[in-house]
Amino acid sequence: MSPPPENSHKTANNSRSAGAALYGGSSFLRDLIREREILIFGGAGGVGKTTLAACVALQAAIEGKKTLVMTIDPARRLADSLGVRELGNEEHEVDLTPLARNGEAPKGKLFALMLDPKKTFDDMVRSFSPSAEVTDRVFNNRLYQQITSSLAGMYEYSAIEKVYEIHQSRVYDLIVVDTPPTKHALEFLDAPNKLVEFFRSGVVRWFLKPYLSVGKIGLRVMQAGSDVLFKIFEAITGFSIVRDVSDFFIALQDLWDGLVFRAEKASEVLLAKETSFVLVTSPHQQNIREIAFYHAKLVERKIPFGGIIVNRFHFPYLPKSKRKALLDQTEAAIRGEMNRGTQAKHLRLLDNLRAIEDISDFDRLGVELLGRKIPRAPVALVPALPTDVYSLTGLQSVNQHLFAE
Ligand SMILES: Nc1ncnc2c1ncn2[C@@H]1O[C@H](COP(=O)(O)OP(=O)(O)OP(=O)(O)O)[C@@H](O)[C@H]1O
Ligand SMILES: [Mg+2]
Repeated sequence: MSPPPENSHKTANNSRSAGAALYGGSSFLRDLIREREILIFGGAGGVGKTTLAACVALQAAIEGKKTLVMTIDPARRLADSLGVRELGNEEHEVDLTPLARNGEAPKGKLFALMLDPKKTFDDMVRSFSPSAEVTDRVFNNRLYQQITSSLAGMYEYSAIEKVYEIHQSRVYDLIVVDTPPTKHALEFLDAPNKLVEFFRSGVVRWFLKPYLSVGKIGLRVMQAGSDVLFKIFEAITGFSIVRDVSDFFIALQDLWDGLVFRAEKASEVLLAKETSFVLVTSPHQQNIREIAFYHAKLVERKIPFGGIIVNRFHFPYLPKSKRKALLDQTEAAIRGEMNRGTQAKHLRLLDNLRAIEDISDFDRLGVELLGRKIPRAPVALVPALPTDVYSLTGLQSVNQHLFAE
């Protein structure tokens, strides 16, 4: 249930001070835009990470930064507005002329790309591969295809890898990173380490053991020799999995060290002083508990934390201290002054208003819980808008709240 647009803006402005009083205002995002080079938006599924990453990136571009927003699977209409319909890691400049027409000439530029995790990983393999032959061998391997499309954390790892690569290129002043809807927020934080562990794991060593002991040349000879065994196995089982597995690790051996090095480097992005995590949550208490857990993990891992955006917050229409009196007076007036027909309609409207106030109470409790769970965290509140947010002007209307002084 969302208040009408003009009211939602008005009440939001009236009552943002409640959030500001609790948390010291929302200008933290302005500071982050000015001071950081990488902003990573994390949070549970569906809370508004993609939308808010786009909002903050747009604001940075308006303020003069050459900004890239790296989105993951945006809603279609938002992808259209950003010009990133297709996957493929291509950076597109976003056409900001509609804003100039509204009298807001952006001082910087906005670019967007939609992350293609598989392509990111393929590019990395290619860059470490000693020859085209090895590259082909890895790419054609079914296990590789399987792993790169389904290994847990692959999406997350690719995002971090891509950020690392783009940040190294020094093309942008600011990279705003949307993260995938993970069941578990920590998947994103753990992805690079998991990959390093995977490459170094006992499983990999176990597969390679016989080959490692005979050296690289012997390794290929052995594989040729064991073809007979593979054929028997395939004949019995109908699977060529053993061949795929061994072939995969043989090919991978050539680029193993490069991959481990790269995964370690990429994981440093998370810890860099140029980076900040912005956590996005709904005001629901369950989400707040999750975000507090996420925050604790950031602290534990010494990952820089920027602040929290509480999205789809229902601001109250009436000041809490006067609310009961106002509603009671209104009810008395309706009952006293109106005829029965009109009275019934107005009483229903009044019930509606009471229900909205109850929802806003509920949301306020969530924000208060947040204040107790993460004291002194910078917090910005964004109202639940009456429609989806997908156009540049839609993003700007969110920014009126995010960047209000
Ligand atoms: N404050 C808001 N008011 C109204 N609609 C909103 C608001 N914030 C986000 N939305 C809408 O909610 C939907 C989900 O938002 P979004 O895609 O940004 O979430 P997400 O956290 O990226 O989701 P996922 O975890 O699936 O990637 C979108 O249609 C978006 O336009
Ligand atoms: Mg998203």
